[in-house]
Amino acid sequence: MSSESAGRSTWKSRTGFILAAVGSAVGLGNIWRFSYLAYENGGGAFLIPYLVALLTAGIPLLILEFGIGHERIGSAPLAFRKIGKKWEWLGWWPLLFTMFGIVLYYSVVIAWCVGFVFYSVNLAWGDDPDKFFFETFLNLSSSPFEISRIQTPVLAGLLVVWLITWVIITRGVSRGVELANKIFMPLLLLLTLALVFWSVNLDGAMIGISAYLRPDFAKLVDPMVWVRAYGQIFFTLSLGFGIMIAYASYMPYNSNMTGSAVITALANSGFSLLSGFGVFAILGFMSFSQNQPLEEVVRESIGLAFVAYPKAISMIGTAGPLFGVLFFLSLTVAGISSAISIVEAFVSGVEDKFGLDRKVLTTVLCFLGFAGGIIFTTDGGLFWLDIVDHFINNYGLVVAGLLECIVVGWFFKLDIIRKHLNKVSKMQLGSGWNWTIKLFLPLFLVVILMNQLVRELLTAYGDYSWASLVGIGWSWIAITFLVSFILAVQPWKTESHLEKGRGEEL
Ligand code: ALA
Repeated sequence: MSSESAGRSTWKSRTGFILAAVGSAVGLGNIWRFSYLAYENGGGAFLIPYLVALLTAGIPLLILEFGIGHERIGSAPLAFRKIGKKWEWLGWWPLLFTMFGIVLYYSVVIAWCVGFVFYSVNLAWGDDPDKFFFETFLNLSSSPFEISRIQTPVLAGLLVVWLITWVIITRGVSRGVELANKIFMPLLLLLTLALVFWSVNLDGAMIGISAYLRPDFAKLVDPMVWVRAYGQIFFTLSLGFGIMIAYASYMPYNSNMTGSAVITALANSGFSLLSGFGVFAILGFMSFSQNQPLEEVVRESIGLAFVAYPKAISMIGTAGPLFGVLFFLSLTVAGISSAISIVEAFVSGVEDKFGLDRKVLTTVLCFLGFAGGIIFTTDGGLFWLDIVDHFINNYGLVVAGLLECIVVGWFFKLDIIRKHLNKVSKMQLGSGWNWTIKLFLPLFLVVILMNQLVRELLTAYGDYSWASLVGIGWSWIAITFLVSFILAVQPWKTESHLEKGRGEEL
């Protein structure tokens, strides 16, 4: 048992593993993305599809990813290689579109948060946070291809984010990632509780909270609300990223993996729902203070955290700056713990296959991450962010999740994973889980994808030109897809792919 994972990094404790998995899951997606999606999709109406997506896709898939990593003992490329030689690319593809896609713009949004921690101190946005964010801070141009300059404050924040990421990951799995999350997660919980408590006590908070909790059943017939809810569940639980597979592979044999998956998923969604109270309380406060309907307090949903919050912070009075610093600090902490998980998953994949030195590899990756993020720090950056985010989430993550289900469900004995999970976990999975992975989820995800694709082809996403959608969005998906095959056909420099899985004797 001990030789099976000889040389493989391990977590010090199960708590450390769960904290790291929660750290990856809880991120900007829970506060920034969840709130603006809920805001855009009818507040309380969004909670129903969100919870359905959590139960039908989120939890079963997280269990699957933990199972794959733990049973096959490998990062995503190694685990898929051990599932079948021809599937190794499916391990590389998510690592590529997250390391050279998601984390590039994700780190830029964290950089915005770093900037806003400082701007909060003297309420630098003045009377017009909207103008400050879009015009002064981002200097937003009018199209993705209209790029004339890099925004220095954003670039400086980006450098800070990548330096922190670099320091944590070079220290390794237990001394770096685990330790950082042991500090970050309790800190984040404290910050969030303080902020939510503060927000719900502001005047008018109840206006927002009742909008947050009031289900609008009419919205449920819009298929796009469902598409967004499933997309959000993938994003928020870091599913289809390859992260959870790598994290699970660092767990020793006797580890309650199914229980850990359920705890991680519930902690993550609990966190989103909790922050939702804070966000909607703030919107209620603004609506009350400005005597405006709730739907009208924010112009652009994507800027909700960077426009609505600053506006509210200015209205809070003398304690406003403190509120601002705590809020943007919490976003920064949540973001960094997720960003490191993306880089760690890539490092793990390359270490497994090419046996490269972690320090050198991390240094190169963090440099590339910083350099690749520069495009998002330009005046056209927000458009790039919006397009890349749309394509990677809706096509990258969902397709990766779909393919994972098909490959493990139909081209491998899924029971090897299920029986292994049942052997090491307290909670037992019945054959219903197999059918969820083999049939229900693939069918459902195909319907979602087809629906989305038809819309995509009929109307250009976000009114962007076709040139920018194809040149940026589709190309991003296509290039990472091709590179995953190139990496998969390279010869293995380590012997790791020759080792057996833990449930192989079945
Ligand atoms: N799971 C991470 C988030 O929600 C990526 O932000």
